[in-house]
Amino acid sequence: MKKAIKLFVLGGALLLFGACENDKFEEELPVVKDNVSFALDIQPILNVQCAGCHNPAIAEPDLREGFAYSSLMEGDEEGIIPGDSEGSELVEMLERNSEDGNNMPPATPLSPLNIALIRKWIDEGAKNN
Ligand code: HEC
Repeated sequence: MKKAIKLFVLGGALLLFGACENDKFEEELPVVKDNVSFALDIQPILNVQCAGCHNPAIAEPDLREGFAYSSLMEGDEEGIIPGDSEGSELVEMLERNSEDGNNMPPATPLSPLNIALIRKWIDEGAKNN
């Protein structure tokens, strides 16, 4: 009986370890097209996933259409580094690696495809295109 419990605990620990090791954000992101457009590709993601909270009534930065680009680029300097998605704090937040614990959106992560689009847009210079 004791042995069974030990095995059970060991199994649980291994499962837990496996779950941590299997960080899906460490894996390759989906390949996305070139020339990602802020207006056509990124803003629609922000509208659905972010603007419900990121508006003047609730939280900054304002990520509504017409406001998002300037709030993202003028706000926190570390948020987005054009050409460097890896060093951009916004990407850490989306990939749930934020040092300040500001993982965004707070509850449901973006899909790997949407994260890949945002990364590509940043790597292509974070243009208002
Ligand atoms: C359920 C509400 C909610 C959703 C959805 C949400 N956020 Fe936030 N977000 C917040 C709140 C609240 C804060 C302020 C947190 C703080 O200052 O502690 C915040 C803070 C931030 C910040 C500023 C962090 C900082 O260092 O000050 C950024 C950037 C951000 N969110 C981006 C996003 C993006 C991008 C999305 C969509 C992909 C998103 N958020 C979705 C509620 C939300």
